[in-house]
Amino acid sequence: MTGVLITIEGVEGSGKSTQIRRLATRLEACGLPAVFSKEPGGTALGKELRFLLLAPHGSGESWCPEAEILLFYADRAQHLATLIRPAIAAGKIVVVDRFEDSTRAYQGASGVSEDTLRRLRELVLGDFRPDLTLVLDMEPEASLRRVAARNGALGETFRETRFDGETLAFHRRVRGRFQEIARQEPDRVRLVAAESDPDRVETALWAEISPQLRRAGFRVP
Ligand code: TMP
Repeated sequence: MTGVLITIEGVEGSGKSTQIRRLATRLEACGLPAVFSKEPGGTALGKELRFLLLAPHGSGESWCPEAEILLFYADRAQHLATLIRPAIAAGKIVVVDRFEDSTRAYQGASGVSEDTLRRLRELVLGDFRPDLTLVLDMEPEASLRRVAARNGALGETFRETRFDGETLAFHRRVRGRFQEIARQEPDRVRLVAAESDPDRVETALWAEISPQLRRAGFRVP
């Protein structure tokens, strides 16, 4: 039996981390074999790339869009080769916090052309796609308020996520691109309304995930 890849996407502050923690608890309670990871930074080398990508550099220099996307893909290629593909081959349920669709949404919103996005996707992924992608969909104005509250609570030292500082218009473009991907690939990608309380979001996510797991042959109670 081969495993499955489920990816969780969404704008900053859409509640991915909370929902992924809840999913981990649920899969464990069901006795299902799951592996949880994230991008960027799902491998030891990838963690270094994550830091290079998201932390501001002391020099003040920032990545040009082409260099940035190549680093996201370097992280992904390593993650696929050393963690994702082996775990799927071993029959695991692999859950990844952000994957390919984040590149399409964020780097697309940063101005990387559709042609470059497509060529890099072909180079690194070929025909490989997640079995199911869930986009936690919410208005960025509300989600960024959550991020601001979280950053405030953590103090001034927390400044890792370079895209937190982007404009509201940028985050609206990111959300629009996720919505567009869901329209283009309705069999793979589902939007889940993320503004309601976490219990309802968790129920909605599980309603998408559990049939997918059953179809893949997992015994879901
Ligand atoms: P997060 O893992 O804390 O959500 O932060 C990762 C940040 O990196 C987030 O702002 C989205 C961004 N990102 C991209 O721009 N492109 C990508 O391909 C991925 C995986 C993440």
